[in-house]
Amino acid sequence: MKKYLVDDAEYSVSAKGDGPILVFAHGFPFDGRIFDAVADRLASKFYCVVPDLRGFGSSTLGANGLNPRGFPRVTMGRYADDLTILASEIACELGRDPATEKVYLCGLSMGGYISLAFAARRPERLGGIIFCDSNASGDTPEKSAGRLKLAEEIVAVERATAQVAALAESYLPNLLSPKTFETKPEVVEELRQTMLRQRPTGIAAAARGMAKRADSTALLPKIAVPTLVLGGADDVLSPPSSLDAIAAAIPGACRATIPDAGHVASLENPDAFADAVLRWAESAL
Ligand code: MLT
Repeated sequence: MKKYLVDDAEYSVSAKGDGPILVFAHGFPFDGRIFDAVADRLASKFYCVVPDLRGFGSSTLGANGLNPRGFPRVTMGRYADDLTILASEIACELGRDPATEKVYLCGLSMGGYISLAFAARRPERLGGIIFCDSNASGDTPEKSAGRLKLAEEIVAVERATAQVAALAESYLPNLLSPKTFETKPEVVEELRQTMLRQRPTGIAAAARGMAKRADSTALLPKIAVPTLVLGGADDVLSPPSSLDAIAAAIPGACRATIPDAGHVASLENPDAFADAVLRWAESAL
């Protein structure tokens, strides 16, 4: 893992491969490790950049990960701006011109929200989007209130570790396909450990950021770059029918469904995930 100063946060990043820059944005409450297996498989086609987002994994939260009242909060726009800065740094490192180098984004769930924020803010920098297990709508008032409550509770210092553990156990059943639970206990454990190693402040920051995000449905028809909408066949949080509707709303978007996978398709079935991306890349690059 390499460290990059991105705005005021220290980002921990693994990078490998050759080709156009493909930046991965992970879901909540995970870190970049959910993409390791996929990045290995895509490194022949892309220069794969896998960061832990601000406040997650080994990346710091930074002062800009706080809202004006000093509470942890990272908006989807802040993460998107971080990824723009990171991609520019990487382009320079590779001897490419950051002003003209196109960035491909692969965002899973919360990472999908970040991809849409990137598309709204920096369309001229985008080469293409791989939108995975995610949605374009904002939160309902109930969902948003639940996230704000979580953000407040999880940083209560004396119970923080127990809170993160309780969050992981409550999320797990909806995150993975029944097939994964039956046949891949090591993947279940890997995802559990990924959630357990997240810091309460990073979780609170992202929860507040997601609660604040706007509905992006109106953006979908304006996306003018090659897009692949991809999701696990057994994803109950972003079901195939809702991903079908998103793909139908984005001009020319391709659609792929990953068998034997739920909400974290990159971890559950990395072979099928990478194959779908490689097939798409044939026409997208
Ligand atoms: C994720 O996996 O990133 C979450 O399901 C996103 C969310 O809570 O909306």
